[in-house]
Amino acid sequence: MADLSFDLTGRGAVVTGAGGDIGRAVVARLTAAGARVAALDLTAPEDVGEVALACDVSDAGAVEAAVAEAAARLGGLEILVNNAAAPTPVGDVTQIAPEAWARSLAVNLTGAYLMSRACIPHFRALGRGVILNVASQLGHVTTPGRAAYSASKAGLLSLTRTLALDHATENIRAVSLSPGAVMTSRIIDQAGSEEAAEAAFAPLHPVGRVGRVEEMASAALFLVSDAAGFVTGADLLADGGYTAR
Ligand SMILES: NC(=O)c1ccc[n+]([C@@H]2O[C@H](COP(=O)([O-])OP(=O)(O)OC[C@H]3O[C@@H](n4cnc5c(N)ncnc54)[C@H](O)[C@@H]3O)[C@@H](O)[C@H]2O)c1
Repeated sequence: MADLSFDLTGRGAVVTGAGGDIGRAVVARLTAAGARVAALDLTAPEDVGEVALACDVSDAGAVEAAVAEAAARLGGLEILVNNAAAPTPVGDVTQIAPEAWARSLAVNLTGAYLMSRACIPHFRALGRGVILNVASQLGHVTTPGRAAYSASKAGLLSLTRTLALDHATENIRAVSLSPGAVMTSRIIDQAGSEEAAEAAFAPLHPVGRVGRVEEMASAALFLVSDAAGFVTGADLLADGGYTAR
């Protein structure tokens, strides 16, 4: 039987939003699997990845420059993790400011398009590649007050499928990961404290707890590895059963 490996030795990877909680965990897991990782965030993240670069993923020029630099410094690219997300505006559409709506779409959705556009030529040069889009359970279902976030993540799920079809014959896969609530500063800030976040979000998940960043990193490693070689155009819901009800 062929070895379906989680080994990423020597593979060049770019992770966006790498200074955030899930991003850091993903970079650490890919690095531990042998990948050489360029960590991108609005300001170059410290102590994460082999190469740290400042890049606003909604800025086409900045994306082109950062991807070119990452590819040059890592000696090629074959993994892209689109993980960056803007702060989530909360409220119904009469309460969400146009600028906040636009920012959510520009970072969460257009950012993934721009990064994919810049990375695919590097994948082609190597004859293989994988794009992992970090979506959300709220791209599948929604909840009051999250119109911009949910719409951006639903769009990202759709973008994943089209990317998969467009590049299937080029040995380039496109997959997505949809976390449920994960214990991060994102939900701690929303709830006020770690305890309040667990109390608020755990009951929404049939498993009775929120997710851990390490669980998202493990799912990400599977999806970008050869073990998931036949997985493309698909989403992995790592949501503790949130969407199963
Ligand atoms: N935390 C959760 O409960 C949860 C649940 C479902 C999905 N997610 C998704 O997982 C991903 C990571 O979430 P997190 O909790 O680590 O969030 P986070 O807010 O800690 O990290 C997001 C990172 O993206 C960066 N970022 C924002 N705008 C950017 C831009 N224009 N260009 C580059 N970087 C930018 C931020 O600076 C931040 O470091 C996001 O896509 C989020 O939507 C998170």
